[in-house]
Amino acid sequence: MTTYFHHLSRCCAAVLLFTVQANAQQINIPIETNHNALVLQADAKMNLHSIYFGKKLANASDYEQVGGVYKQGDDYTGMQDAAYSASGSRNLFEPAISVTHADGNNSLDLRYVKHEVSKVDDNVSLLKVTLKDPVYAIEVTLFYKSFYKEDVMEQWCSIRHTEKGNVTLHKFASANLFIKGGSFWLNQYHGDWAKEMQPEESRLTHGIKTLDTKLGTRANLFQPSVFMVSMDRPATENEGTVLYGALEYSGNFRTDLELDHQDNLRITSGINNYASTYTLKSGELFTTPAFLYTLSSNGKGVASRNLHNWARNYKLLDGKGNRLTLLNNWEATYFDFDENKLSALLKDTKKLGVDMFLLDDGWFANKYPRNGDVAGLGDWEENKKKLPNGIAALVKEASSNGVKFGIWIEPEMVNPKSELYEKHPEWVVREPKREEHYFRNQLVLDLANPAVQDFVYGVVDDLFTKNPALAYIKWDCNAVIYNAHSAYLKNQSHFYIDYMRGLYKVLERIRAKYPKVPMMLCSGGGGRVDYGALQYFTEFWPSDNTDPLERIFLQWEYSYFYPAISSSNHVTDWGKQPIKFRTDVAMMGKLGFDIVVSHLAEKDLKFCQDAIQVYNGLKTIVWQGDQYRLSNPRSSDVASMLYMNAEKSSGVIFNYLVNNRYGTGSKLPIRMNGLDAGKKYRITEINLYPGTSSTIDGNKTYSGDFLMQVGFNPDVNSGRASVLLKIEEVK
Ligand code: GLA
Repeated sequence: MTTYFHHLSRCCAAVLLFTVQANAQQINIPIETNHNALVLQADAKMNLHSIYFGKKLANASDYEQVGGVYKQGDDYTGMQDAAYSASGSRNLFEPAISVTHADGNNSLDLRYVKHEVSKVDDNVSLLKVTLKDPVYAIEVTLFYKSFYKEDVMEQWCSIRHTEKGNVTLHKFASANLFIKGGSFWLNQYHGDWAKEMQPEESRLTHGIKTLDTKLGTRANLFQPSVFMVSMDRPATENEGTVLYGALEYSGNFRTDLELDHQDNLRITSGINNYASTYTLKSGELFTTPAFLYTLSSNGKGVASRNLHNWARNYKLLDGKGNRLTLLNNWEATYFDFDENKLSALLKDTKKLGVDMFLLDDGWFANKYPRNGDVAGLGDWEENKKKLPNGIAALVKEASSNGVKFGIWIEPEMVNPKSELYEKHPEWVVREPKREEHYFRNQLVLDLANPAVQDFVYGVVDDLFTKNPALAYIKWDCNAVIYNAHSAYLKNQSHFYIDYMRGLYKVLERIRAKYPKVPMMLCSGGGGRVDYGALQYFTEFWPSDNTDPLERIFLQWEYSYFYPAISSSNHVTDWGKQPIKFRTDVAMMGKLGFDIVVSHLAEKDLKFCQDAIQVYNGLKTIVWQGDQYRLSNPRSSDVASMLYMNAEKSSGVIFNYLVNNRYGTGSKLPIRMNGLDAGKKYRITEINLYPGTSSTIDGNKTYSGDFLMQVGFNPDVNSGRASVLLKIEEVK
């Protein structure tokens, strides 16, 4: 029997169910999106293969011929292309799943039983494929959620058994992809505090390359799960085949990229099984997080725009909504503030013209006041000395100044010097018999424990209950997990997984009660940026590094995976660039300030005030427009990024000098992208510093064709290191 399903036609929610007799021939299951297809095939023995992953073919029946044109020799297993590789039977490659059965046996053999396709809406379909072991009572369901227009796929699985006793899960990946032979280039990221998202590209060699983290919390500090794989040659912005992948998970992840002896690539991604052997009870359902991927045959730009659209439409909290510009006091005051100082800052917030004041760290704890990062974390009562009238008075004062009020918390963590630690040492992640080891003088609370979940939820709920007008939360997470041990859990191997389950439970509860309050995901900078968390957060903090030059590079790399609306960018005193440069860079995402407004020179203040008005006029395009990376700062002296509205009638181009050498500048025109070749455009310079004038002739018109073929020169040079251009259709 051969069955096909295509992306289901528009209309009602439909469910198609396919079950098969044991002696059936073979079953093809193509999952098609706008440009791509992933084709699964159950063979006569019901082994499920992944026979094709790539650009969609015109005739669905052609997928069956794919295998025939490869002459790679024997793989010795007949299952190198398994849709979900199980270990212990014939498999010889890195498995997606590995178990020990209740009777101690280590083999697993997963065979196709049935599949079912349901339509979530016009654009989204969900395929469920049920696999069972013919010998043991264990079942794995593979889920493929496809987003047609965006060419995006989310893939995860659930594992259940009814054996007499427990099954031990040694490995439990969300997915494994199988990509037929060729050559592959991996673009991966590494980092540290203030050095997030450092890219590295290399050709994959035979064997396994692992991207992973074992940090527990602040999990991305050294390595995030996002990556790209280019096929046949390194992809560029507009050319080449490239896959983007990421695990939607905030804890330990592991992605193995295995190039086999026949040059095929297997990408296996999921929760890291490091120190996490999971004991699965009979009847218990283990569900993995989703592995997210998108494939582009036209370079990185398309892939990133697809991911942005997907994120704004389906994942990022309030992805199509509004965001608040803000003034933050972290770098302006650090821990040193009181009511009077804040009162002045609230007035400055209004004067500057942003929507909100964000009170950062240092507002809480009394027995061990939070006057530095060594004490007080965990004691979430207002510090009476600094804030005798509490947060409530500040929220009120903000409102009488005509601005909103937001607040910083770090509810998952505790300083040993705190009342919380004294009262609840059993809530702290620590090895009772070993010396404590601190990250930023703090420890992590045990979110595997429901009492701790209640506490963490309570921190947020209390703030909102007492201050219903509170408009924003910055949720920080500054420490990694050392000495991973839970006083609550019986099985320590469940700790890392149960911690994340606990965190997500808390975030679920918060969102059930406060569905849309904006929350920033922060982790000592960008230590926790992932789509598992971003379904609860409206934005993230990319890095504590706000040096604008560094920021161009950082924001550039984040922009491949995350839409600009989710990137909180603040103007600070980091870096040597003038205020215009710093502000322009911060305007490329969600704009904020963290400066002492009263220290600004008159002209600088005027510039900032005007820039906020300019930003308010542009923000819809920055947040919701299509992003085109025009000139890469890693390969050019000028960085250039365009945001264009869907109608291709209005856009904004950010241009920066990123090299200081004598005489550098935009010597060559920069080719645009994403315009309508047939339209005429006018380009004018905006956001000028008071008293300066533009060198751009805003009266000229250019065809879209010209701008995309020949380009435009923003006239960037050492005297004009930051140039903002507005591009408008002329009718
Ligand atoms: C982290 C954050 C900063 C700031 C401090 C406060 O480092 O990334 O933005 O909030 O904590 O302690």
